[in-house]
Amino acid sequence: MRILNDATLFDEIYIDDFKNDLVKNSKIIGKEILYFESINSTNSLALKLIETSHKDGTVIIANEQLAGRGRFERRWISPAKKNLYMSIILSPELSLKNLSFLSLMTAVSCASAIRKLTPLNVSIKWPNDIVVEEKKLGGILIETKTYKEKIYAILGIGINVNFKRLEMPEDIRDFATSIMEETGITYSRAQIALELLKDLDRWYYILLNKGFEKIKKEWLNLTSTIGRFIRVMSGSDIYTGKAIGIDEEGMLLLNTGDFIRKISSGDVTILK
Ligand code: BTN
Repeated sequence: MRILNDATLFDEIYIDDFKNDLVKNSKIIGKEILYFESINSTNSLALKLIETSHKDGTVIIANEQLAGRGRFERRWISPAKKNLYMSIILSPELSLKNLSFLSLMTAVSCASAIRKLTPLNVSIKWPNDIVVEEKKLGGILIETKTYKEKIYAILGIGINVNFKRLEMPEDIRDFATSIMEETGITYSRAQIALELLKDLDRWYYILLNKGFEKIKKEWLNLTSTIGRFIRVMSGSDIYTGKAIGIDEEGMLLLNTGDFIRKISSGDVTILK
């Protein structure tokens, strides 16, 4: 594992310039950025760093992950120099039940940043998959840890930027995509990271100071799940019904025909 110095080039942007922008303009997120050429997982490192001295809002970025992790203990394919892999360490003053706000907030920032920089009509599939049409372009893994009686959250973000379909393992080719595959254009990972972190910093400030309502509204603007008939795999349970909204805690409201079921986590498949 090697930490590169500040003047390391990430795409065409120096980590230094990148940092300067965030250090000057952000409130919490990105005042400290650690960049690695190759590590197992930015989330795993972030979980370790919680126990060491670090700034709230520290960002860990890697050029490559050797053991990238997805939701439900899946792997996250993370080849070098292709995509964006980063994690942010936060210690929000939120109760455990409100930590789902962080997941919806992160999805909003990912979708807005990509929409701002590309012509893609990206949307959010509940709770936090970033999709184009039905294909997955990015994913978010939120992990929490309590250390010395303080709750920490790690926001892990993976965005497929310049990943070519033929470079993807065969088993994900039909379900995954990348910004390059959808637009035919090579994008700067650094520019996407910068835009995303700025947006995340803004939404995090809103969440801490004004609550969840605004984020919920923006999430509802950006989602493609609500109003659709879906199947949700939640642990060993499978539910089908019409997604009709999210509640004030970020839980999915599913109309099963008989009643409205609240679902806290799961994998959604759009049926129609
Ligand atoms: C998902 O399954 O949809 C979530 C994928 C999250 C992947 C990112 S890449 C950066 C961070 N480090 C990891 O090991 N995972 C997350």
